[in-house]
Amino acid sequence: MGNAFLKVASIYFTIGVLAGITMGIIHDFRLASVHAHINLLGWVSMAIFGLIYHFYPQAASTKLAKTHFWFHNIGLPVMMVGIATQVLTGSMAALPVAVIGSIVVVVGVICFTINLFKHVGKGTNVQSGNKFSV
Ligand code: HEM
Repeated sequence: MGNAFLKVASIYFTIGVLAGITMGIIHDFRLASVHAHINLLGWVSMAIFGLIYHFYPQAASTKLAKTHFWFHNIGLPVMMVGIATQVLTGSMAALPVAVIGSIVVVVGVICFTINLFKHVGKGTNVQSGNKFSV
């Protein structure tokens, strides 16, 4: 799951900075919150997930990690479309889309947390190659 998270993170980073520079050039900052969430939930969070799963392979190979990956990667685009639509149309009709996307992301993050509590500290650390327990 680590490699997948890192690769997807780099795509979000590219989209995030392109959105940022576009906002700056056209002087339209309405989508600043979308840009911020693409960069923070898309790039920063997913890159950290990727690195964590790389260093803790015992957590990366679980069903919880797979569920986390898919919930994050389905929830985030839905949330972004919901927020962007709401901002651009000024209508609250897209609010449920943003809320559903957000909830899916949150459930993914809960899977991540449970996964770390269950599997980090058991098994082999990639760096040392030694058994460890925290
Ligand atoms: C080349 C890269 C980037 C460019 C050109 C850029 C550009 C911008 C611009 C023009 C704004 C709106 C400022 C305003 O409303 O006055 C903004 C807001 C913001 N950006 Fe970026 N940005 C970049 C990268 C990033 C990255 C990597 C992150 C986070 C990891 C980030 C996080 C944010 C946040 C948190 C805001 C505030 C959003 C808000 O006010 O709702 N940006 N950025």
